[in-house]
Amino acid sequence: MKTTAVILAAGQGTRMKSKLPKVLHKALGKPMVQWVIDCLSQAGVHNKIAVLGHGGAQVEPVIAGQAAIVYQTEQLGTGHAVIQAAPVLPADNDCVLVICGDTPLLRAQTIQQLIAMHQAERNAVTLLTAHADNPTGYGRIVRQGQQIAAIVEQKDADEAQKLIQEINTGTYCFDQNFLLQYLSALDTNNAQKEYYLTDLIKIANQHGLPVGGFVLEDFSESLGVNNRIQLSQAEAVLRKRKCEEVMLAGVTLIDPAATYIGADVVIGNDTVIYPNVVLEGQTVIGSDNVIGMNCRFMDSTIGDGNDIQSTVIVESTVGNDCKIGPMAYLRPGTVLADNVKIGDFVEVKKSQVGEGSKIPHLSYVGDSVVGSGVNIGCGTITCNYDGVHKYQTTIKDGAFIGSNTNLVAPVTVEENAFIGAGSTITRDVPDSALAVTRADLRIKENWRKRNK
Ligand code: UD1
Ligand code: CA
Repeated sequence: MKTTAVILAAGQGTRMKSKLPKVLHKALGKPMVQWVIDCLSQAGVHNKIAVLGHGGAQVEPVIAGQAAIVYQTEQLGTGHAVIQAAPVLPADNDCVLVICGDTPLLRAQTIQQLIAMHQAERNAVTLLTAHADNPTGYGRIVRQGQQIAAIVEQKDADEAQKLIQEINTGTYCFDQNFLLQYLSALDTNNAQKEYYLTDLIKIANQHGLPVGGFVLEDFSESLGVNNRIQLSQAEAVLRKRKCEEVMLAGVTLIDPAATYIGADVVIGNDTVIYPNVVLEGQTVIGSDNVIGMNCRFMDSTIGDGNDIQSTVIVESTVGNDCKIGPMAYLRPGTVLADNVKIGDFVEVKKSQVGEGSKIPHLSYVGDSVVGSGVNIGCGTITCNYDGVHKYQTTIKDGAFIGSNTNLVAPVTVEENAFIGAGSTITRDVPDSALAVTRADLRIKENWRKRNK
């Protein structure tokens, strides 16, 4: 059965009180509308049409290439939104799956089950419903016996209908011929003076056409986000799901409730993650790592067997078997080879550090290429900036940089060169040479006694 999804995302989202269109608000680092698109793709629904309106110019670039786009310039209701999509429905399409752009918790499996029921029962329309403890705000499912007779919106419901706990999730499968035939029969005779898509249920019944309902077991899956409290509820559900997914894949989370793992993050097995870790963006972490408390990694790639404590890593790459932190900061463009040691209070920016090299304490290394087997002593600084331009520092294999050295870039320290502690290096240092810039030490005996 050929299925096309229509994603409703034209509404203003007034209750978010935001400059950002509602469907672009992120849950677990991913815009809500992207969760819906990914869910549909996973369910095998590849034809998608998004109905945009409020903030459409902001939404369009986010979903470009993933869905055809139509505009609803005036938001006259969910029925009116679907009317805008009708002209671009493929002629040979069978099922039109309507879904809201603000339901990030729906699972692909649920969509597949809904489509399967729709197909098996040959319904004019099949609804996804759920039982809510508090149904306030949702459209209520009015049944006659087992049969679904109508959906009544909160604002149109009488006192008896308001007690109904079965609600409309806002996700439906329509037979395309039925939909195209009867969309024009919708009117605005209701409390909100809108074209309600939900009136098509009543219309199907009037024409004796079959209406089905697939009841969700887990109400939380149908959460429609209308305000920031609900956004935080969606976030919590998605975060728990992601943590469970990585744990089932062999990752130890000491405290999943205190671990934030973004939607797209990938982690290898036997990595152990301590509390208060935040992993975001396109971060990929290998196996057998220990990620200690208070780490934050963003868009970074971490190999295997590393031990990383209380460290921030942004847009960087770490090899294998490195020891990093506590309190290290790897800024964009840092690439560490294997067996590198980056110790406490070390900042590295846009630099490569070769195999087995050590920067153990209190250093700044920026715009540098550091070879293998290099030791950079405590307090060493690459002076890479003259106030106008940035310059490169090169430290070749086996070099030893004494503590508290200033390397004034551009400068090269050749292989196995040795720099004495406290030096300021302003010229290149040849292979195996000693470089030292130090005023002679003067000692004046009994100086204090004489100056009393
Ligand atoms: C709608 C349903 C209600 C259901 C609820 C589930 C109708 C009439 N009511 O109510 O039965 O329980 O969803 O969350 O359909 N939109 C447009 N254009 C419009 C109006 C809305 O694109 O003109 C989009 C919104 O951006 C949103 C979705 O449709 O993504 C739902 O709209 P919303 O106003 O939130 O509908 P509800 O009142 O929640
Ligand atoms: Ca809603």
